[in-house]
Amino acid sequence: MTDMLAQIRDLPAQLSWAAEAEAPAIGTHSEVLCVGMGGSGISGDYAGAIAEPFGTRVSVHKGYGPIAPWAIRLRPLVIAVSYSGNTEETLDFAVSARDTGLPVAAVTTGGRLGEMAREEKWPTVEVPAGLQPRAALGYLLGAVLKVLEGAHAVDDQRLAFVEAAEWAGRAVDEGSDTWDRAAEIAAGLSGRIPIIYGGGPISGVVAQRWKTQINENAKMPAWWSVLPELDHNEITGWETMPDVTKDLLGIVALTDRSDHDRVASRVDFTRNLTSDAVPWVAEVASAGTFPLTRLVSLTVTGDLLSLMLAEHAGVDPLPVKTIEKLKKLLAKEDE
Ligand code: F6R
Repeated sequence: MTDMLAQIRDLPAQLSWAAEAEAPAIGTHSEVLCVGMGGSGISGDYAGAIAEPFGTRVSVHKGYGPIAPWAIRLRPLVIAVSYSGNTEETLDFAVSARDTGLPVAAVTTGGRLGEMAREEKWPTVEVPAGLQPRAALGYLLGAVLKVLEGAHAVDDQRLAFVEAAEWAGRAVDEGSDTWDRAAEIAAGLSGRIPIIYGGGPISGVVAQRWKTQINENAKMPAWWSVLPELDHNEITGWETMPDVTKDLLGIVALTDRSDHDRVASRVDFTRNLTSDAVPWVAEVASAGTFPLTRLVSLTVTGDLLSLMLAEHAGVDPLPVKTIEKLKKLLAKEDE
C-alpha cells in the first residue's frame, strides 16, 4: 500500500496549502452548481456541507450537459472541477454552461479544462499535479472553498484549514487512534462487503467517500446509504436473506454532531431490528471543532481503512485499471 499511503499522508500538506491559497474575485453568489466526477466531484459534496450554514446552496452535478432548466432560470455559479482537466462529462457540462451564458469557474491541474478556462477567462484555482484525483481531496476541496470564498458564499476558511491540517497530520501516522480504529474495522470487515451509513450533511457525504475509496483502493464492492431515508426502504430489504447476508455484509455507521438527534435513536433501533441479517456493525464518530475538521476526521479513517482492506485483499490500491480501460474504450469509439 506504499505509494497510495504516501499520497494519503499528503492530506495535511494539502490542507495547509489550502489555508494559504488565494481566493479569486468572483462577485457574489449564493447559488452554486459544482460539476465533476469521482474523486473530483466529491469535493462539491464536501463543499456543500460546509457552505450550507452560510446560506449558500451547492448543488452537485455528476454527468454530462445540458444545463437543467432550473439552473438556466436561477443562474448559479458553475464550478467545473476536474483534477486531470480531461474528464469528458465535466468538459461537456462546462461547454453547456458557457453556451448558456452561466458564470463559470474552474478547479484543475490543467488539461483541456485548464485551456478552456484560459481561453474563456474563467476564474481558476490551479492545484498541484502528480496525484491520483481521489488522493487530492485536500487540494480539490481547498480550491472549491477558495472559489466559494471569492464568491462571498462562505467566510474565510483559514482557521478551519489550519485545524483540519493539524488534525490530519496526527491521524495519518501509524499508531494514531485513527490508525488503530481503522485497523480494527478493517479486520472485522475482512471477507465482508462494506455498507456505509451516514445520517446528516457531514456523515452522509463521507459515507459516500468511504464507499468510493473502498471501491477504488481495495477494489471491493461497497455501498452507502443515508439515514433517515434508509429506514423507509432499505431496512425491509434485510428480511428474506439473513443466511446469506449475515456472513457476507458488514455495516459501518458514521456519525457527526450535526446529525439530527432522532438519527442517533434510529441508528440504534435500526441496528437492533436488522441484527439477525447484519450482525457485524461498527460506528465511527467524527472529531474536531470546525465542520471541515469533522469531515476530514471521518475521511482519514475511511481512507486508511480502504488501504488496509487492499492489503488484506492483496491488491495494489494505486492503479484503477478498469476506469482507465473504460475511458480508452470510449475514446476509441470517438475515432
Ligand atoms: C481516480 C479517481 C477517479 C477520477 C475520475 C474523474 O483516482 O478518483 O474517480 O477522479 O475518473 O477524473 P478527474 O478527477 O481527473 O476529473
